[in-house]
Amino acid sequence: MANWRQFEDRDALVTALRAGIESQLQAAVETRGQASWAVSGGSTPKPLFEAMQQSPLEWRHIDVALVDERWVPFDHPRSNEVFVAQNLLAARAADARLVGMKTGHDTAADATEEVNTRYGAIAQPFDSVLLGVGLDGHTASLFPGAEGLEAAFAAGAPTCVALTAKKSAVTGDEVDRMSLSADAIAQARHVLVMITGHEKKAMMEQALEPSSSLPIGRLHALRPFDIYWAP
Ligand code: 6PG
Repeated sequence: MANWRQFEDRDALVTALRAGIESQLQAAVETRGQASWAVSGGSTPKPLFEAMQQSPLEWRHIDVALVDERWVPFDHPRSNEVFVAQNLLAARAADARLVGMKTGHDTAADATEEVNTRYGAIAQPFDSVLLGVGLDGHTASLFPGAEGLEAAFAAGAPTCVALTAKKSAVTGDEVDRMSLSADAIAQARHVLVMITGHEKKAMMEQALEPSSSLPIGRLHALRPFDIYWAP
């Protein structure tokens, strides 16, 4: 049974997510002296990131990593790393260390070794992972039908994997992707999905049907997570 947390509006959604993530990261800092939080790009988490900027967490002990990246330069409007740097790493959260995925390599596949070395320096398993979902049932950059999808779902896959998505309205032109593998997400101490709107709710309900092979549903079967939703 999926664990839905439903809220009347997006402010209440953000308040609840902030509280849940803060307590997880705070406990990690108290217990292990450091914490790691892997976050999605996309557009949905923006108000949560803005709220988290004001969090009194000891950000200097927190690594913020990406769950996925579109293989675009830093001056591209669809760079997840720049989105997170601008919307989360400000105010109090400016003290966090941001670990991105983009390198100077031409393709994500060429960069896999370097990105895994980078991610190897982050405390793992991740203390918290924030996922988004697309209307095609993808999460992180685990896109349905992508080249590399089965390798990304393989047991024992490396933390970061390269995929080439099938171009669609959801992917835009940015089909070359780096993503956390399903295993890396599944091992995290805390996994939350943040979605808004009735269309995404309906898609998620469909993905959770046992007959579905949509990536977000496959991930839930591997590692159940809480789904935070507001209209
Ligand atoms: C990405 C994301 C991705 C995102 C969903 C939802 O880089 O594309 O990290 O997994 O969370 O596509 O995106 P929206 O929040 O923009 O709908």
